[in-house]
Amino acid sequence: MKWKVKKFIQPVLAAIVGASVILSHADVSVLNAQGSSAATNWTREAAAQIKPDASNIAPKFDKNELQAISKDFIIWDTWPLQEMNGHPAIVNGHKIIFALSVPKGSIPGKRHDSAQIRYFHSNDGKSWVLGGLVFEEGKSFGSRQWAGSFVIDKRGRVHMFYTATGRKGEAQLSYGQKIATVDADVVTTNRSVSFTNWSEHKIILEADGTYYQTEEQAAQGDQSYAFRDPYYFLDPKSGEGYLLFSANSSGKLEQRACLMEHAGSADAMRTTPPEAKFYNGSIGIAKATSGSLTEFKLLPPLLEANCVNEELERPNVMVKGNQYYLFLKTHGNKFAQGLNAPEGLYGFVSDSLTAEYQPLNGSGLVIANPDDNPYQSYSWMVMSNGTVISYVDYVDVDGKNIHEVGEQSPEYQIEHFGGMLAPSLKLSITRDQTSLLGDKQQGVFK
Ligand code: FRU
Repeated sequence: MKWKVKKFIQPVLAAIVGASVILSHADVSVLNAQGSSAATNWTREAAAQIKPDASNIAPKFDKNELQAISKDFIIWDTWPLQEMNGHPAIVNGHKIIFALSVPKGSIPGKRHDSAQIRYFHSNDGKSWVLGGLVFEEGKSFGSRQWAGSFVIDKRGRVHMFYTATGRKGEAQLSYGQKIATVDADVVTTNRSVSFTNWSEHKIILEADGTYYQTEEQAAQGDQSYAFRDPYYFLDPKSGEGYLLFSANSSGKLEQRACLMEHAGSADAMRTTPPEAKFYNGSIGIAKATSGSLTEFKLLPPLLEANCVNEELERPNVMVKGNQYYLFLKTHGNKFAQGLNAPEGLYGFVSDSLTAEYQPLNGSGLVIANPDDNPYQSYSWMVMSNGTVISYVDYVDVDGKNIHEVGEQSPEYQIEHFGGMLAPSLKLSITRDQTSLLGDKQQGVFK
């Protein structure tokens, strides 16, 4: 996507990889000592089983039959205000959602460069009214803000966790990402919702280079970079608060290699191409160390996709029965060579929050876009009742891949990009199996 540290075309990439050094076992134990080994690996063996079928393919929709959420803005990643336990909150009769946004008419492919978080509210949970920008002008970190997670506590205080991308006021756009927080009170009337009594914005998490790759480490040859998309989770079993986030496994490219633990079987190891080592997406986690939720300590990642996928986005986790369900989204072109997978929502299940996740449905695939509209929606978010929201991405692209879509004229992109909520979906989840039950009305969270 647009925050690439460096752009490589495939032949250059192959040449570099060809010259790379395979690590000895001694080097590998150094890597493990850095902490990455605690994570579950999403193995190539599991990912090789990804197969769109009737249980996971979302129904195709027609953008022309859908309604824009705003006449002035296009939106993408969207999340509801949640109670501490994850349920969508209702504040004096109002539901409140937040979305990354840019003014209508902006080039969709460039939207990440100027994203701002806006909020919408609703009394019926179906039709949304634009509230405005969430943050006070000039107060938030970053030259733009990316996805986040907002929760309301028992006292009515809203804790907002968001991605600060680039540096405030920068002349030249940069792509560093940090996780920031701020809190505020929410004030409502019959017809309006607003935020007041703001705290100071604070950076609470940065990549440490041990568990999580720093931007500097990524700049030594990697293609994409993530330290973003916080998701607040109050563990009902322990009562502890956590932030999950999207990241990359630590270290420089030259220190990495694809090992048996990444492949998952001797067969998968034999067919792992050398250039798969470029792929080091991970899901990180940090634990709250203060009741005010303004201090967090980094823990080892929950999940790593080394040699499988380079960009696992917007994680969220929920408890159902006695098990933890971890969901994330990724693009088809973020999978390593030799793996064939759709744009989709992927999921994992475990008895414990921090270890031993198993891919749902064997492969991890939970929701795929239909083959004949492969980019119709993205950034799915699973609510605790099984309703899944997402936004309308690029539709009816006539066989173009996402790279080719990005090369089209601004007019083409504007016409084919949705920038609105997609029809919601209903997911059934039973132990380690999921199945799509059908679609629901656009923008419904329940
Ligand atoms: C997903 C995403 C997020 C990021 C945002 C940037 O659509 O890539 O990971 O926070 O979009 O616009």
